[in-house]
Amino acid sequence: MNALLETLKPADADWGLAQALDPARLPGHIAIIMDGNGRWARRRNLPRAAGHHAGVDSVRSTVETCGQLGIGILTLYAFSVENWKRPRTEVDMLWRLLRIYIRRELPSLMKNGVRVCAIGRLDALPDRARRELLDAVEATSKNRGLLVNLAINYGGRTELADSMNVILQKARAAGTLEFLRVDENMISANLYTAGLPDPDLLIRTSGEMRVSNFLLWQIAYSELYVTDTLWPDFRRGELLRAILNYQSRDRRFGGLSGGAGTLQSSSAEPAPAEVAQ
Ligand code: FPP
Repeated sequence: MNALLETLKPADADWGLAQALDPARLPGHIAIIMDGNGRWARRRNLPRAAGHHAGVDSVRSTVETCGQLGIGILTLYAFSVENWKRPRTEVDMLWRLLRIYIRRELPSLMKNGVRVCAIGRLDALPDRARRELLDAVEATSKNRGLLVNLAINYGGRTELADSMNVILQKARAAGTLEFLRVDENMISANLYTAGLPDPDLLIRTSGEMRVSNFLLWQIAYSELYVTDTLWPDFRRGELLRAILNYQSRDRRFGGLSGGAGTLQSSSAEPAPAEVAQ
């Protein structure tokens, strides 16, 4: 978090917001449904592509701020399994933008120790986009700073079905199918996000009150924050406001309130008073 404060001066618009943050209660994992690129463009009488281009600048700003804050994981919903229904020209443009982002940002991601990962059915991506994405995943794999997890050709229901099928396949291979009993830990351990803590904070831009098939299993106890701000306008101040709002929440994980100061990340053990019945 010091890295953020060092880049700001008292005269900066976001100075007050940054000062108000409690460094001990930052979310460990932030997930974002980036929505509103098309509306942003329409309001300016621009083609939808202009909204997606401006959205890439918000991705850069958000990655940078999360890195400066010392956030552990940032998961971004970049392309859903449903997005293939869009016109071919828009879909192709989104793959081009992904490649442009990776090429342009890789040096800075490396410099800042950012690790890139991708979740989703990546096999269905166009060759060049998949190759460049996987090259970036490989190139950044030893970095130890912020983990940027790109959800691409991702669907929450697809992920759950894939997890079940992996469980079945493993049991078949081990000859234990007959006795298979699936539990929550097995499902979690076979999701695309296996090994990662669940998101503490789920942000959705552009005001829609839905989760759109995003991380359905993992957001069971995430704090939700919906802002009317359209994704291309979502920059540092908006992110700081979302985190400040998160810090005002009382996370009970189905149990009882522990009062002020009990905000804890999902990776932490629940306090005894908070254990769900
Ligand atoms: C939603 O806006 C946005 C998307 C479906 C794509 C998100 C992609 C980017 C921000 C750019 C590329 C991403 C990376 C990670 C480099 P919308 O088109 O649904 O907007 P609308 O609801 O206003 O039409």
